[in-house]
Amino acid sequence: MCGIVGYIGGDQAAPILLSGLEKLEYRGYDSAGMAVYTGDSLQIAKSKGRLQVLHDLVDGGKKLPGSVGIGHTRWATHGKPSDINSHPQVSKSGKFAVVHNGIIENYQEIKQKLIQKDVNFVSETDTEVVAQLLEYYYKGDILDAFIKVISRLQGSYALGILCVDDPEKLYAVRKDSPLVVGLGEHENYVASDIPSILNFTRDFYRLKDNEVVELTRQGVKIFNMEKEPIEKELVHVDWDLSVAEKGGYEHFMFKEIMEQPKALRDTISPRIKDGRIVLDDVTLTAEQLKQFNRISIVACGSAYHVGVVAKYVIEKLTRIPVEVDVASEFRYRQPILDSNSLVIVISQSGETADTLAALRESKRLGARVLSIVNVVGSSIANDSDDVLYTWAGPEIAVATTKAYSTQLAVVYLLAIYMADLLGKLSAEEYDEYVRELQALPDKVEQALQNKEDIQYFASKHFSAKDIFFIGRNLDYAISMEGSLKLKEISYIHSEAYAAGELKHGTISLMEEGTLVVAIATHQQLLEKMMSNVIEVRSRGALVLGLTTEDNGQIEKDVDFLFTVPSACEIMRPSLAVIPLQLFSYYMASMKGCDIDKPRNLAKSVTVE
Ligand code: BG6
Repeated sequence: MCGIVGYIGGDQAAPILLSGLEKLEYRGYDSAGMAVYTGDSLQIAKSKGRLQVLHDLVDGGKKLPGSVGIGHTRWATHGKPSDINSHPQVSKSGKFAVVHNGIIENYQEIKQKLIQKDVNFVSETDTEVVAQLLEYYYKGDILDAFIKVISRLQGSYALGILCVDDPEKLYAVRKDSPLVVGLGEHENYVASDIPSILNFTRDFYRLKDNEVVELTRQGVKIFNMEKEPIEKELVHVDWDLSVAEKGGYEHFMFKEIMEQPKALRDTISPRIKDGRIVLDDVTLTAEQLKQFNRISIVACGSAYHVGVVAKYVIEKLTRIPVEVDVASEFRYRQPILDSNSLVIVISQSGETADTLAALRESKRLGARVLSIVNVVGSSIANDSDDVLYTWAGPEIAVATTKAYSTQLAVVYLLAIYMADLLGKLSAEEYDEYVRELQALPDKVEQALQNKEDIQYFASKHFSAKDIFFIGRNLDYAISMEGSLKLKEISYIHSEAYAAGELKHGTISLMEEGTLVVAIATHQQLLEKMMSNVIEVRSRGALVLGLTTEDNGQIEKDVDFLFTVPSACEIMRPSLAVIPLQLFSYYMASMKGCDIDKPRNLAKSVTVE
C-alpha cells in the first residue's frame, strides 16, 4: 500500500524523504513524489514509476533545498498510476500539499459538492478531495481547517499536509491506516511505519485514530478532534530493521494472513451504501445480464480456486450457467463464446500471461469481460470492459492469502448484485446477504484467533509425505485452495478431492496414518461428508476435521477438529480458508521453508 514520510528539522528534507521512501518500497507502489518548502513556495516533484525516477527528477534531493517536506509512494486505488495521480496532491491555489494512504469512501460526494463551488479537479484520485477541501475550509488557521476536513472524511486515511502560509509546521493524522511520529533533536518525523525512519530515530509516538499531529523543529503537539492537547507515551524501539519491515511478523505471508480482516473491510465497505450494494463503475444492466446465456470464469492458481467458488455461488443465486477453467486450458480449447457470453477474469497481479491471453481470446470472440483484479491499471484491468478491484493492498508473499480472500468477497458482492438485478432475491434475502457481508471481516478476525491449536497440530504432522483435502460443494473448492497453499510453501505433496469421488479410485491410496483434512462446513451435506470420513478412517486415515462452530458435535467422529464462526452458506469459504492458510504456514515454518519466496514459484507468471 502507499507509504508516507514527513520531515521538519535542520537538514535538507528531500534526501531524508527519499531514504524513508526507499525503506517503504517493499510495500508495493507504482508512483512516488514529494513536496518541499523551498523558502517561498511548495516545490512538488512526482512521477509514475519507481522511486529511482523521482530520485533522478530531484537529483538525489539537490534540486529541492529546504528543510520541511512530505514524501509518498503510491499504490493506486482510485485513478490509474500516472504523474498527475501521484501524490502529493495540491489545492487549487497551490497553498496546500497532501499525501494520503487509504481510501476516502465518500470522496465522490465531496468532490461533486466542491465542483459545484467551481473547484476544478485535475486528478482522478480520492486524495485530491482532501487538498481542495483544506483550501475550501481554510480561513487562516491550518489546524482548524484540517480538523474540519477530517470530520468530513469517511474511510481509511493516513494524511500528511503542508501549507505554504506556515512552513514551520507539518500536520498529520491517521484513521485505520497506520502512522507514527519520530522524535529527534530539533527535528521531527512522521511516517507510515517505524522502519522507514529507523535510521534517524528510535523514539516514537504511535498515533491512534483521529489524533491530530502538529510537527515543528522544536517539538510535537498532538490534539484530539476538539483541539485539546493529548499526552502520548514515548516508545523506544531497538528493532532489527529487516524484522520491522514485516510489521514485526517473521514473514510477509503471516502479516498478510493477519491483514485479511482489514483488506476485507477496505474491499466491502465502500461498496455498501445505505444497505445497497454499489459496484463502482460496473455498467452491467439487467437487460445485458438477461442476455447472457452463460458465464465463463477464467483464472490461474488460487484465483482459479476463487473461480470454482464463484461458479457455485453465481449459479446458486442467479441461475445463469457458469463454467470455470484454468486459463492455460481455456485459451486453447476453442471456447464457445459470443456476445451473449460474460467472461469473468480473476487475477491478483493483473499480469498473468495465460489469464491475459484468455481475456483477449474472449474479447476476440465477442464476449463481455469483467475482471476482478488487485493491481490498478494492470494489463488485465486495462483490457476489460468492467473492473472490480480488490482493495487488498500490495501482496508481497508469493502464496496469496489476502488477495484471495478479497477476491471471494468481490464474488459475493457481484453474485448478490446480479441476482438482485435479475429479480432472483426477495428484499429480505438481499438484506440478509448484505448483513452477512458486513459481518464477514469480524468473523474472519475471530477465525484468526485459534492459531495456537493449528500450530500445535502442525507440529505433530509436518513430516507427513502425502496429505489429502476432501470436501463437497463449496468445501471442495476450499479443499483445492488448502491443498495448493500446503504444496506451495511446505513442499509436502497433497491432493484435493471431491469427497464423493474418493471411492472411485483415490481411496486406494489410504494407508495407516494417512492424513486427511475433511472440510465439512456445508450444512446440507454434513452427513454425507461424515460418511466419507468414516470411509477413510476405516482404512487407517487420520482425519483433521474443519467445520463451523455450530457443528462441533462432529468432534467425536474425527481425530482433530478446527472450527470457524458460522456464516451464510455462500460465504463459509471465506472462513474455512483461514485455518488452512495458517495450517500451511505452520507446516512450512516447522520445515524451515522459505515461506515468502517458495522455490520454483513467482508471484506473477508473465510468460506462458
Ligand atoms: C501463480 C502464483 O504464479 O499465479 C499464485 O504463485 C497465483 O499465487 C497465480 O494464484 C495466479 O496469479 P494472479 O496474479 O493472476 O492471481
